[in-house]
Amino acid sequence: MCGIVGYTGQKQSFPLLLDGLKRLEYRGYDSAGLAVVKESQVESHKAVGKIEELQKDIGGKDIPGSLGIAHTRWATHGVPTEENAHPHCDCSGRIWLVHNGIIENHQALKDQLEKEGHEFQSETDSEVMVHLIEKFYQGDIAEALRQALYKIEGAYSFVVFHSEEPGKLVAAKKGSPLVLGIDDDGVIVASDVTAIIRQTRNVIYLEDKEMAVVEGGEFHILNWNNQTRNKEPQKVSWDLEELEKKGYDHFMLKEIFEQPDSITDSLRGRVIQEEGKVKLGGLDTVADRLSQVENLDLVACGTAYYAGLVGEYMLEEYADLPARALVASEFRYRKQLLDKGHCLLALSQSGETADTLAAIKEAQERNVLSLGVVNVVGSSIARTTEAGVYNHIGPEIAVASTKAFTSQLVILALLTVYWGRMRNMALAMGQRITQELEELPQKAQETLKTDKRIREIAQKYYQVSNFAFLGRKYNYAVALEGALKLKEISYIHAEGFAGGEIKHGPLALVDKDFPSFFIVPQDSVYEKNLSNMQEIKARGGPVIALATQGDERVAQIADEVVYIPKTLEMLTPILAVIPLQLFAYYMATFNSTDVDKPRNLAKSVTVE
Ligand code: G6P
Repeated sequence: MCGIVGYTGQKQSFPLLLDGLKRLEYRGYDSAGLAVVKESQVESHKAVGKIEELQKDIGGKDIPGSLGIAHTRWATHGVPTEENAHPHCDCSGRIWLVHNGIIENHQALKDQLEKEGHEFQSETDSEVMVHLIEKFYQGDIAEALRQALYKIEGAYSFVVFHSEEPGKLVAAKKGSPLVLGIDDDGVIVASDVTAIIRQTRNVIYLEDKEMAVVEGGEFHILNWNNQTRNKEPQKVSWDLEELEKKGYDHFMLKEIFEQPDSITDSLRGRVIQEEGKVKLGGLDTVADRLSQVENLDLVACGTAYYAGLVGEYMLEEYADLPARALVASEFRYRKQLLDKGHCLLALSQSGETADTLAAIKEAQERNVLSLGVVNVVGSSIARTTEAGVYNHIGPEIAVASTKAFTSQLVILALLTVYWGRMRNMALAMGQRITQELEELPQKAQETLKTDKRIREIAQKYYQVSNFAFLGRKYNYAVALEGALKLKEISYIHAEGFAGGEIKHGPLALVDKDFPSFFIVPQDSVYEKNLSNMQEIKARGGPVIALATQGDERVAQIADEVVYIPKTLEMLTPILAVIPLQLFAYYMATFNSTDVDKPRNLAKSVTVE
């Protein structure tokens, strides 16, 4: 996720900017840059990769100047390159800007600005804004920014300066955070308070549609209509780690609770609901070849593989596309009958998983089209595959994957509509799925209300040694994922089963000490699931059930019921997995394990 730091005051800005960038590293980024001004001369450096690369570019010296801006970029529009890294400047080289967020109408603005003679250096949406400010500039950078803000759509925060307005820094935000740190000697502006608190704990959070003008140690906050807002600094009492976790005890819990937002982020700009279609810009270059695909292999590891298993059902049922999910580590060792119509879709949060990468290379050697669904922009899998779709959910830090899984499912649903509409899917079905997708963030929010109930249930069961998770059809993979989450972070033995399989072995395990967690929404396999629940109850096994809101029948069988909102059957996994993530989390915390970094496991598995 992008990060912003800016400073103006009596100190030298460079060390403060560098320290601020390092504090923002935990958010994840793929390039970084800064610009410092002294006596109207701007010195700017940019580098792809880590902050150390930027430092190398600077060459170990200090950059003099008491005003500067800096940025860590998490690529959205345009790959990670020096040109695309921030800060961006206007044609005159005097206006400099850093930006977080997305300018949705950037293309139309860019076309217009190019017609008017502006020359662009990057592929970013951000650069549009600096040229727009240049267009309105008449000697007052704050006024030019204010006018430009009226022209753009989207969610954003900006920090800007003009090299010939000494000591003046201006900032504005809408939908993307910005905070001022007020020191005796100057003011730091940052996208995240973690970049500030080493300097000062006195902060002012800007609200949407507010601007700050900072000059000569004074700050002035106004709204976009130029009316002054009187705001007093408040004290931050949290320490750095707490801040990075945004008040949650663990990154995993924070990431679970981020899901309404991460689902929104994965959907943003991709759904054309009226036309029942989706737009996936990352696939444009291969669109023709995608219409020729006859068989799809969904290749991945761990949680991402379970997302693939759900995708298999989605694509077959709604896009009429034969699909199979395969564990990446097995892919190379099996005789693959790869013909012309074959396509490989790799799913990977990190984009670095060695087995997944090896499978892609194997497929490429056999001339099979390879695509990626990846979160980390510019990662090995993103670079190796021929085209793909980014998750755009920001960094996932906890080893156990949560928000990446729901995002992968969202993208698989988008791909189902994408392929479906190229094949046989009717307009009405496309509209129905896309409408349900758009309702998911709010339903995920509703699902998070199960938190308290799940915690109570975990408190009751945390001492058991074994757990079963059961589901059918779309939620078979959710049962597998529920079991994986529980075992990886609580170290309790757990297994996921397809409901229909319990009579073929697992039933022998059932007794009063062997609880089962059933995923039993009101879907096409509901009755079958109820029968399986009865079978377990009849043998004295405790049953926890995840059911659709309003369902009364489940409560008559299960010992505990947790309710989730109703959605389209193919999308139920996206909601159903949330209480299972919470369940694993609370089972782990009651067992005092290291939730974010479980023993023996790694977030990014780069060995085969
Ligand atoms: C590791 C992580 C899992 C993840 C798997 C695949 O095992 O702990 O959470 O699901 O790798 O990772 P990827 O980055 O390829 O999605």
